Amino acid sequence: MRTQVGIIGAGPAGLLLSRMLAVQGIESVVLENRSRDYVEARIRAGILEQHTVDTLREVGMGARLDREGLEHDGIYLQYPGTRHKLDFPELCGRNVWIYGQSEVVKDLIAAQLDDGPPLLFEVSDVQPRDVDTDSPSIAFTDADGVAQVLECDVVAGTDGFHGVSRPIVTAATDGQLWERTYPFAWLGILADVAPSTDDLIYAWHPDGFAMHSMRSPSVSRLYIQVDPTEKIEDWSDDRIWEALATRMALPGWELQTGPVTEKSILPMRSFVSSPMRHGRLFLAGDAAHIVPPTGAKGLNLAVADVTLLARALVRLLAEKETDLADAYSDKALARVWRCTHFSWWMTSMLHTHGDDFDAQLQLSQLQRVCTSEAAARELAEMYTGLPVAL
Ligand code: FAD
Ligand code: DHB
Repeated sequence: MRTQVGIIGAGPAGLLLSRMLAVQGIESVVLENRSRDYVEARIRAGILEQHTVDTLREVGMGARLDREGLEHDGIYLQYPGTRHKLDFPELCGRNVWIYGQSEVVKDLIAAQLDDGPPLLFEVSDVQPRDVDTDSPSIAFTDADGVAQVLECDVVAGTDGFHGVSRPIVTAATDGQLWERTYPFAWLGILADVAPSTDDLIYAWHPDGFAMHSMRSPSVSRLYIQVDPTEKIEDWSDDRIWEALATRMALPGWELQTGPVTEKSILPMRSFVSSPMRHGRLFLAGDAAHIVPPTGAKGLNLAVADVTLLARALVRLLAEKETDLADAYSDKALARVWRCTHFSWWMTSMLHTHGDDFDAQLQLSQLQRVCTSEAAARELAEMYTGLPVAL
């Protein structure tokens, strides 16, 4: 098999990269080790930044998003006694959209299997080779158990945090890794109940953070901060609803409950790996970096990476110029660190961990954001997403 860009991983980063390249006449093949059903069923992020929505529309992926996505003009920040709306268009002229990552992935897979480049599910033993030459390849075993080699000009490592690509880059470049683990996790539920709020609520509470998000007018997505050692079996639905109601309580407001259809505990970490390229192997998305979910940056950062990468690869493969490929890692990492800071800051401001001094600093910071236009604007600009500077 031969193609121009061999893409490892059919998450949002890999699928969107393949789509962006196809639109610009560059061939690719996507190799995914899971099944289509598994990839489409993974419940993950839910907030799309303005640039993510613009990008999806530009590559013809906006139809269902425009029909079913929920455009939101702000979020509520809450601490005891106060629920304050940050109005994004007023503060920074941009909005965000609620449209689940699973829906983005379903749309991209459907388009790819319809008339897009090849997408192979359930492959195994995926191994990039010769990435320090101009003719790299990817060895893998296909779904029928047959050993294959995909020859290509470039390999894109969009295989997530546990993928095979990053270790190759790190080993070959003597690369650097930075990591921060947090002393808390999120317990997330999906529930068949209409959201009890018009916009997302991010709530500080002495018992811990709570958040109210949604997926549609009849499906709510809610999270509570828990200790990372907690077991999901110890959290009955009633216990979760009680914690949510306590932490988001406000006079005159009531949390509606309904059947819980999914629940899980997500660990939280920040992680950045540099550089994001070795030779002809380029990393994008969670393969190179992880942010804690507070502030909803993970999926959007993956989209920003592949926007830069697609441009660099078109330049490299169609125009035979190496400048953008050479600049890719530094350019992507500048945005990664900005979003890593924002996610760390939102996480640090909103999660309690038993230190009374820190709790007072958190409340002081929340009050500042809710009373200073300058502080609110900074949050709004980062939350709605910086434009991707190509
Ligand atoms: P992924 O989505 O991880 O895709 C990588 C793909 O590569 C996967 O399909 C994987 O199966 C495949 N793969 C891995 N190894 C191989 C291999 N060896 N060969 C072939 N294929 C391989 N972000 C938010 O902003 N808000 C949230 O609420 C949020 N919740 C999350 C909840 C969970 C449980 C997780 C794990 C992440 C969450 N994130 C959230 C982060 C967000 O989902 C990710 O940032 C996003 O999925 C990144 O996309 P990606 O394509 O880079 O990686
Ligand atoms: C969602 C997840 C986030 O991390 C966030 O900050 C906002 C919303 C969500 O899953 O809907």
